[in-house]
Amino acid sequence: MTEDAQASLLALTPMNPVFKADPHVVLRPLRETRPVARDPQAGTFIVTRYVDAHRVLANRRTSRNGARAETCAHLAHRQEAQLPTNVPRSEVASMIVLDDPDHARIRRPLQRAFYARVKTCRLRLEQVVDAALDAIDPERPFDLMVAFCLPVPIDAIAAIIGVDNVSLTDFRQWSEGVALGLNPFRSPEQTVLLEQARTSLRDYFRGQIDQCRVTPRDDLISDMVALQAAGAEINDAELALNLIALLVGGNMTTTDLIGNGARLLMLNPGELEKLLADPELAPLLVEEVLRFEGPIDVTERIMTDDIELSGCPINATQAVTTILRAANRDPAVYDDPERFVIDAKRAPHLSFGGGSHFCIGAPLARLEGQLALLKLFQRFPTLKIVDCDAEPAWRTLPFFRGLEKLIVHA
Ligand code: HEM
Repeated sequence: MTEDAQASLLALTPMNPVFKADPHVVLRPLRETRPVARDPQAGTFIVTRYVDAHRVLANRRTSRNGARAETCAHLAHRQEAQLPTNVPRSEVASMIVLDDPDHARIRRPLQRAFYARVKTCRLRLEQVVDAALDAIDPERPFDLMVAFCLPVPIDAIAAIIGVDNVSLTDFRQWSEGVALGLNPFRSPEQTVLLEQARTSLRDYFRGQIDQCRVTPRDDLISDMVALQAAGAEINDAELALNLIALLVGGNMTTTDLIGNGARLLMLNPGELEKLLADPELAPLLVEEVLRFEGPIDVTERIMTDDIELSGCPINATQAVTTILRAANRDPAVYDDPERFVIDAKRAPHLSFGGGSHFCIGAPLARLEGQLALLKLFQRFPTLKIVDCDAEPAWRTLPFFRGLEKLIVHA
């Protein structure tokens, strides 16, 4: 079980046409017969059962720092090699790949300010969703991704962070630019765009931090500046970097939550009927979309202790890749896992990861998903996919599942 030439992370990406069409054709046999499989090329263990993935993610002693991995953990080292070494790691690597004490030092104040903002942003999010819906011309077919799923998360995070209307157009462009960082197969031209977007966003946020220090406003940046003044140990470079991390971590994922959810509701009219008859089901709907067709496939940890998973020994310094999509359909945890049922009360999914790196954006993603899907179908209850028989246009981005386009008519 520890050495398996056929288990390969590359086969668990849309580069594999079978996986792209239906990931579960590949994941199901892996989970059933080789739940902990070694990928020698990537230098990681591929973990597909819920119980094992949950155990790894809940373990707060694990690391996200590739430098702490054994030499043959190629994927982990590749990520680390891209970081400059002449600056403190916490100023070039966001919380996503930091370990404690830096991770806790940076995440704690940001989480406190961010969660408080999300609690009070419902009305503003409703306005963002309504504005996107108002801009749609329902008289002709339209691309739901471009018209709705893409702009809503960017405008929502802009409102929370405190981006003014003058900067919004630039901000939208930079946000799409930094998302290119998620694509390991980007072209050299795209890498140039990515670097430009990163620099522009960093300069923009540094300028805003300075301004909020002089004239506080009602937004997340001002909240963070106030926490700094009250003693929170996060410097301006770290703050700007982690504000960018909110965009990178949050935009495409929430776009895909809304896009995948809308597609599932259109393909399952009975479930849509349930939602429209009882809008209180929106929170359960979003959890079921996240379980059934979540936006992210994987998250990784470096072990710092020896453990055993499904009978397979794994040593400290070895890398483990948890396959969230496989765990979320594990029949050992879910009844009838291959069915999309919006009012099923199921065990929590793993789509937001777990432990100390549990997605900081989860409360926002959940609220946005609920408002967006409910309002979309309340406005256009007969929304249909234009060509239901055509292959869905899944993006070819490793470790993410979302649609490039979704042409619909109202
Ligand atoms: C449906 C939407 C989303 C999904 C499926 C998702 C999924 C994830 C996953 C799987 C992780 C890694 C967790 C781990 O390794 O245990 C993560 C981390 C993170 N997410 Fe999200 N995310 C979503 C939305 C958001 C939003 C809206 C934001 C920001 C506003 C965000 C910001 C982040 C950040 C900054 C991290 C790193 C947290 C840390 O390392 O402490 N995400 N997310």
